[in-house]
Amino acid sequence: MKIPPLGFGLGLRTDHYQHIIDESPAIDWFEALSENYMVAGGKPKHYLRCIRENYPIVLHGVSLSIGSSDELNQNYLNSLQNLIHEVEPEWVSDHLCWTGVAGINTHDLMPLPYTEEAISHVAERIIQVQDKLKRRILIENVSSYVNYEHSCMQEWEFYAEVVARADCLMLLDLNNICVSARNHRFDPYEYLKSIDATKVQQFHLAGHTDNTDHVIDTHDHDVRDEVWELYRAALRQFGFVSTMIERDENIPPFEDLQAELDVARTHAVEVLGPDLRSDVGLGAG
Ligand SMILES: [Fe+2]
Repeated sequence: MKIPPLGFGLGLRTDHYQHIIDESPAIDWFEALSENYMVAGGKPKHYLRCIRENYPIVLHGVSLSIGSSDELNQNYLNSLQNLIHEVEPEWVSDHLCWTGVAGINTHDLMPLPYTEEAISHVAERIIQVQDKLKRRILIENVSSYVNYEHSCMQEWEFYAEVVARADCLMLLDLNNICVSARNHRFDPYEYLKSIDATKVQQFHLAGHTDNTDHVIDTHDHDVRDEVWELYRAALRQFGFVSTMIERDENIPPFEDLQAELDVARTHAVEVLGPDLRSDVGLGAG
């Protein structure tokens, strides 16, 4: 069972804290980066607490390193557990990747080899995390630039199997699919077709840098046309899924991101019909 959808959200960025608190913009929810708030006290925590009073929050992590061969980091999980207790997020997500080994955090989201061994390894670790946090988590597909010689299946087959075995949910990043599709020369629509609608809890949309012969997942541009096209196909296939725009660099004024989120809303209404908001039980915005 999926969690009821939240509507159209934005990533919570420090540049926008004060605007959100002062103006209460019509955004359905915010996604907060877990690691920014896994500390006792401090200004970011204060702002998050204020914003949480008026908006649903989901937590999104970048350091779980679910694919690493290191032991799961129990200190990290304890801090995440404390944050969950404080924030009461609608859901919690991280990435299908490894970020380091031998205790070193590279702060990069590195892809896994697509093998049976890696499926068992990652699925078992997701189950351990879910048991510890006492909730299903969402796992996001990452963008990638390299392949492993040992891979014996496609990324989408690997992702679907990990999620099925761990009984977790998917945070499907449609920009990452477009980036990897260009870099590895696969069809992004074939990727989508293999995904089970009952698993997809959230979409990420973002912009990337197109260097013609390869594409880099920079999150510093508006959402590109090919990502909007894939979003429309995803809505046709899955129905409405909570949608969020990620912007991590070159962060524009809040109103610009709000306008871009309105573009997402327009696509969703065109694909799913004008009754979308009442159909999925969403408020105004
Ligand atoms: Fe993402």
